[in-house]
Formats: sequence, structure tokens, C-alpha cells
Amino acid sequence: DFMSKEISENGQVVRTALAIPEADIDQMVQAIDGSERTVLTGVGTSYYVALMGQYMMSGLANEFLPAMSSDEMPHMVSLRKGDHVLSISQSGETYDTLRALRISRQRGATLSSILNVTASSMAREVDHFIDQGAGPEICVLSTKSTVSQLVILLRIAIRLAQLKGQQSDEQISTLEQDLAALPDRLDAIFTGDHGQIRDLARHHSVMRNWFFLGRGIHHGLALEAALKFKEVTYCHAEGMSAGALKHGTISLIDDAMHTVIFLPGTDSPQLRQHSLGAMAEISARNGKLVAFQPQDCPQPEPRPETLIECPSAGRWTLPILQLMQAQLFAYYTARALGRDVDKPRSLAKSVTV
Ligand code: M6R
Repeated sequence: DFMSKEISENGQVVRTALAIPEADIDQMVQAIDGSERTVLTGVGTSYYVALMGQYMMSGLANEFLPAMSSDEMPHMVSLRKGDHVLSISQSGETYDTLRALRISRQRGATLSSILNVTASSMAREVDHFIDQGAGPEICVLSTKSTVSQLVILLRIAIRLAQLKGQQSDEQISTLEQDLAALPDRLDAIFTGDHGQIRDLARHHSVMRNWFFLGRGIHHGLALEAALKFKEVTYCHAEGMSAGALKHGTISLIDDAMHTVIFLPGTDSPQLRQHSLGAMAEISARNGKLVAFQPQDCPQPEPRPETLIECPSAGRWTLPILQLMQAQLFAYYTARALGRDVDKPRSLAKSVTV
């Protein structure tokens, strides 16, 4: 099937994204830096990519670039001349995103895009775009194109941080080394022993209700992991920030509820501590926990029922590794349930209405 083939290409599409000429990245950085305000937009998975991008821009470059779902963007923000909209879309044909761009244009904003299909309406309508070059994505679900978009946004955030003097030369070089190591780490997840994820999926495929939690950039990851899971398994999955759980949703936690939580590494001590706090709240109510974390971390306390580890990585590429694991988890659960992984019911590759 194409879904697993395309997940297996994550490492390769990152190599391609890392080979995009610096001049193309710089053009986007200048569009951001030269604007009064930049808004990141997309819808569905592409919105969650934008949201993770917002954390990257803020955490690395100290820049506030709000991410908005393109279907609601025209109702939420009144743009004007001097503003810039950076849209994310693998197809370049998504109606909601095209509509948000056209309304933004009417109001005087400049437009740019990160696209995987360059012979598309969006490519023709924006002022400039970055071509992901991730190759055709046949499966209706976005997998490799998502990973490629995240890497491009991370490159933009790193360059913006450099331009703004927000990271030292040494920090920039560490970030670049971490990015350079990402393709091999993604390959290692696929070629290595991901049998643990397959077994987890097989043993839990009867579960119909899931929560997916994370904090910081892992919040965007949790939303995307839940979307991927429900699209292909037809099981209910709710993604949210781990901090939001106690503000109502916690009443649903009992011994029949399973929660996936994406933990950051020990290089993000506060974020990790807050995530462990959410695990303690779930555990105290006998909720079942599946935790994802890098392999160089100590055992989380409280202990989850299942712990899935990934190669160690820097704090900004770790969520990309965990995203690949979440894609595999959705894939194996769907297979265990006998779903059509490449063409889930009711979904289309491009949503043009
Ligand atoms: O082509 P786009 O990236 O603009 O598509 C946006 C969404 O329709 C898309 O991401 C959708 O959520 C996918 N089914 C995700 O797998």
C-alpha cells in the first residue's frame, strides 16, 4: 500500500528538503522579516504543521507568527497592506486555503506558500513559493509531505533566528547538525525495530476512544497524531494540549480510556515535567497511558502501560521523529481493523469545495 511506502520515504523527503537552496529559504525569511505581521495558515494536517511552525518561530527566533486554520482565518484576522500570509498546502488546491489567500490579497497582504504540487492554483496565485519536491503522495493521508513541510519551516525558523541574532553561532551549528542527522534517524525508525508499535496497534485495535496529548510543539504533534489516527482507523481520537486536560476533559478518564502522550526529552525539563504532571493526573484515575519519548531519557514516572522510544534528537527535530511513529501507529491500527489505508471512506486527496 502507498501509506506505508510513503511513510518509509520520510527520510528521503527530508534529504530533499535539506537540499532546497538557501536562497529560497532566505526569500521566505525576508518576506517574514519585511512584513509588519506574518500569519501562518493551512487546514487539517497543514494547519497543524503551521501550528508546530508557530512554536518553532517563537522558540527559536522569538517571533510571533500566529497559525490560523484557513477555514476560519478570514473571520478571525483583518489583514492590511504590509501583512504577509504564509500558507502550507501539499496539493495547492485546497478551497479553504485558496479562499483565505484571495481574501488576504484583496486586503493588500503579500502571499507565499510551501507546496508539494507546483502545477497548482496556489503556485500561480502567490507571490512566491517553496517547492517541497517530496514527490507524488498517492495515499489520501498526508504523511511524507507533512514531514517535509515541518523541516522547511524549521529551516526558515533557524535562518530567521540567525538573522535576528536570537541564537549564537554555536547554537545555530548545533541546530543544523541535528537537522542533518534527521534523515538517518527517520530511516532508522522504519528499518529498525518498529515491531513494538505494530504490536501496540494490534493489541489495542479494539479500543474505540483515544486521547492524544502533548505540550509545547508536542501539542501540535498531538493534534496531528489524533487526526491521522481517526482519518484512517475510524476510531474516535481527541488531540489536545496536555495542560487543557484538567479543564474539563479529565472527567472522561477511567480504566477504559487510553491516552497517548508525546514526551519531550530532558533538554526541555519544564515541558517534560508538565507533561509528566498530566500523566500523574491520568494515572490517578486509572487511565491507560502510552508514552512516546527519546531513548536517552529516564523511565517516566508514573510508569505508562507502554513506552515507545525513538532515536535521541534535539528538541526541535524530536517531534518529527515522534510524528513518524504516530503515523506508523495509525497505519498498523488501521491495518489490524481491516481499513482501506490508502482511501479511507469519505476522504479526498484535495478538498476543493
Ligand atoms: O492539500 P492540503 O495540504 O492543503 O490539504 C489540507 C487538508 O485537506 C489535508 O491536510 C487533510 O487534513 C488530509 N486528509 C490529512 O491527512
